Amino acid sequence: MIKFTHKEQQILKQIITARRDIRGNRFNKKEILNELLNSTNNAPSVGFSQPWEFVVIKDNDKRNEVYKEFEKQNKKAKKIFDSREMYKSLKLEGIKESYLNIAVLYKKPKSDILGQTVQKKMGEYSVVCAIQNLWLSARSYNIGVGWVSILRPKKIKKILQIPKEYKLIGYLCIGYVDTFLDTPELETLGWEKKKSVEEVVRWV
Ligand SMILES: Cc1cc2nc3c(=O)[nH]c(=O)nc-3n(C[C@H](O)[C@H](O)[C@H](O)COP(=O)(O)O)c2cc1C
Repeated sequence: MIKFTHKEQQILKQIITARRDIRGNRFNKKEILNELLNSTNNAPSVGFSQPWEFVVIKDNDKRNEVYKEFEKQNKKAKKIFDSREMYKSLKLEGIKESYLNIAVLYKKPKSDILGQTVQKKMGEYSVVCAIQNLWLSARSYNIGVGWVSILRPKKIKKILQIPKEYKLIGYLCIGYVDTFLDTPELETLGWEKKKSVEEVVRWV
């Protein structure tokens, strides 16, 4: 059994605190570490179903297609946030600038899954756990990850020719970066305030 020291606990705390969402303006194109792609397989999953799969996208034509979809959806989003002028200036993806993109998929089960008999989304939540593992592990290698969600999953599945039995959970942009911000960009820009622990914890 591994027992972690206080120093190691502090390092994990640092990695969690220093993890950032990376947008296009901060990526550079240096070769990415393979270990990162192996790091997702230790995430927790309902019934140990490990329902995640990853599509690694390096092809520029495919990325351009995904980018066009982002542009289209972001144009609509700009209208939704019409009253907040700042939205127009936000950089919200790094599809083309990153070293590679990864589409993270949930494979719908063919038979019953232990633990998923009542709450049917548990498999999808497990995939999100795998994404968080990747995100934190990437940060420990000083590799940046950005999650792009202003995309229609159906369209992305079409571009990437992903079969019906899969659901797109996340679209990630990954690559080395020159710098990691100390605070979330949306906090610095005044888009949202950071919540305190007291605000989000209720004792009953
Ligand atoms: C499910 C999910 C979807 C997200 N989608 C986007 C996105 O489409 N574009 C973007 O710029 N950031 C996206 N983000 C990143 C958040 O904006 C970011 O996590 C938040 O502002 C806090 O900043 P930090 O991750 O740097 O700490 C997403 C994050 C999550 C967890």
